Amino acid sequence: MKKIDIAKNLLISNKDMLSCPKCHSNMFIKNPYSLICQNNHCFDLSKRGYVNFLLGSVKVNYNKEMLNSRYIVSQYGFFNPIIDKITQLIRKKINTSKNSQVRILDAGCGEGYHLSSIIKNLKSGGNYNLQGIGIDISKDGISIASSHSKEIIWCVGDLANTPYKNGQFDIITNIFSPSNYFEFNRILRDDGLVIKVVPGSNYLIELRNGFYQGEKDNYSNENVLQKFKENFHVLYSEHIHHKTYVEKKYIKDFIKMTPLSWGSSNESIVQFLNQDSLKLSVDFIILVGIKQSKDQPENKQFLEYYKSEYHHS
Ligand SMILES: C[S@@+](CC[C@H](N)C(=O)[O-])C[C@H]1O[C@@H](n2cnc3c(N)ncnc32)[C@H](O)[C@@H]1O
Ligand SMILES: [Zn+2]
Repeated sequence: MKKIDIAKNLLISNKDMLSCPKCHSNMFIKNPYSLICQNNHCFDLSKRGYVNFLLGSVKVNYNKEMLNSRYIVSQYGFFNPIIDKITQLIRKKINTSKNSQVRILDAGCGEGYHLSSIIKNLKSGGNYNLQGIGIDISKDGISIASSHSKEIIWCVGDLANTPYKNGQFDIITNIFSPSNYFEFNRILRDDGLVIKVVPGSNYLIELRNGFYQGEKDNYSNENVLQKFKENFHVLYSEHIHHKTYVEKKYIKDFIKMTPLSWGSSNESIVQFLNQDSLKLSVDFIILVGIKQSKDQPENKQFLEYYKSEYHHS
């Protein structure tokens, strides 16, 4: 079956979750390959197997070259500790879920490697009825994602104005990406989880030091953590940090996958490329939150249950 037909079938099976990003009315598949809302706003499926829900042109920082490098770095296994931990956290949740189908949205999914791997890991560990949905504002990112994995609904769109109805997702992951907690709260099921990954202050510090030699202030994620805590009940958080050595042939992709080298001199880039291997700090924080409305007295039990479950992760 062609990619566009696989995507179309997935959208037909999940059309109950979609709402027009322009007017918020229901959407339907109109033959052959368009999603159309009650007010005739139309979004076409690409033959590559994704839908573009953007309402106009946007400035996108993550281009094809960066996202291809990010995919290579992901395949290299650099992000495996994140993928493994998130898989474990989601498995805990879906083992207790009463919903017949579990929907997992990756908001700011980039080139889709994390979401594809998480879904693959989960499916290999049990017979779950899962549907992965990835959304990113970068068409290049979603285009790469859809070329690698056909079982996921891939959407080009703004995570601050998503094409989804209220209360659709059991899990929202948000990995190294911007967030919009108002929108996340809207589209999350009442018993859903938000799993956010943020860089720690030493994340890729060797690159930052190499490119900026102390000219830039130290990175701090204090504000990001604070904002998450203001918007969700934090059930669980973990700081994962260690050092790793990157083989020479992958160094250029580590440099290209982040904005850290932007504006730096060729000389400093060449210095990195000439190394036989690159020592890098892996440093990130995983946060798991649930809706704050769960603090209502009748939901206290639910909150306590979750807290104790995740406490022992
Ligand atoms: C650092 S990358 C992370 C990508 C992926 N989660 C990963 O960890 O490899 C940040 C991503 O956020 C996306 N992004 C930025 N603003 C966005 C928005 N308003 N809506 C959706 N995606 C956005 C970018 O296009 C980019 O793919
Ligand atoms: Zn509409």
